[in-house]
Amino acid sequence: MGEFVKVATLSEIEPGKRKSVWVEGQRVLLLNIDGKLYACDESCPHRECSMAKGDLEGKVIVCPCHYAKFDLETGEIVQEPTKYPPTPPLPVHEVKIDGWDVLVSLNLKADYA
Ligand code: FES
Repeated sequence: MGEFVKVATLSEIEPGKRKSVWVEGQRVLLLNIDGKLYACDESCPHRECSMAKGDLEGKVIVCPCHYAKFDLETGEIVQEPTKYPPTPPLPVHEVKIDGWDVLVSLNLKADYA
């Protein structure tokens, strides 16, 4: 795990909202789903499409390019992309709330490639 870095305040990421942030030079997507915060790489691990506007199915995010589906809790692949090759899992990161601040720590082991 990397250092926890402040990326937002709670008022910026209310339930149903999402926000792209930078953490240690990496683009991270922060999401508030029913009051729970999730953080993952914004770039899809399959072919690097941005998942900033990816649909959600509960806590599963759908990549808009080839529709791979990932569990935001674990990064596990729920559905492989419609296009070859198979995708690695989605790097997900740890989120912590400190007062009004939202902090993210990069999962440095999430380099599955
Ligand atoms: S780039 Fe995301 S599924 Fe292909």
